[in-house]
Amino acid sequence: MNYHPPAPLIWLTGLSGAGKTTIARALGTELEGRGVRLEILDGDEIRSIVSPDLGFSRADRDLQVRRIGYIAQLLTRNGVAVAVSAISPYRDSRAEALSLSDRSFEIFVKAPLEVLCDRDTKGLYAKAAKGEISGLTGVDDPYEAPESPDLVLDTSELDVEECLARIFDLLELAGGQDERTA
Ligand code: ADX
Repeated sequence: MNYHPPAPLIWLTGLSGAGKTTIARALGTELEGRGVRLEILDGDEIRSIVSPDLGFSRADRDLQVRRIGYIAQLLTRNGVAVAVSAISPYRDSRAEALSLSDRSFEIFVKAPLEVLCDRDTKGLYAKAAKGEISGLTGVDDPYEAPESPDLVLDTSELDVEECLARIFDLLELAGGQDERTA
């Protein structure tokens, strides 16, 4: 089952380890259970397949976000819902990418930096602390938090189920769930 075009674009932005990928995957599983297709555009995956040429300068991150926004546009205008999980640290490129899809939602996935350092799922924060890497977003590289996100999910306070419930509330408020077509 698809949405009537345009399908929603659910853009999860936030620091590494905040929970973007976990939430996107859980959303995919939940929607699959409801018979609705969702494609996940994950920053790490897109980097390995579409953007192996890019690093982590501002220009490269902006280009990564632009590519993700373009792919999302192709899907949403054909009725396939999309969840993006990418740090997408800069407001302007994020806004531009979101604007390419007609029903886009900006969701800020956050947790205090101490919590992210404790979780350190990829070991990046430990490496940054030891000086083995530089330019880690939120440590010594900028992250521009959304000024008026559609939703804020603090994953130090909410579990995945609660995050999903809030996303579904948002989608239903926006009138998404009633407009599906087989
Ligand atoms: S973005 O800034 O360009 O939007 P994206 O989400 O695609 O970032 O990729 C971030 C992923 O790259 C992180 O999850 C992490 O695995 C990896 N990574 C490697 N170096 C860095 C860095 N300096 N800053 C942020 N992420 C990094």
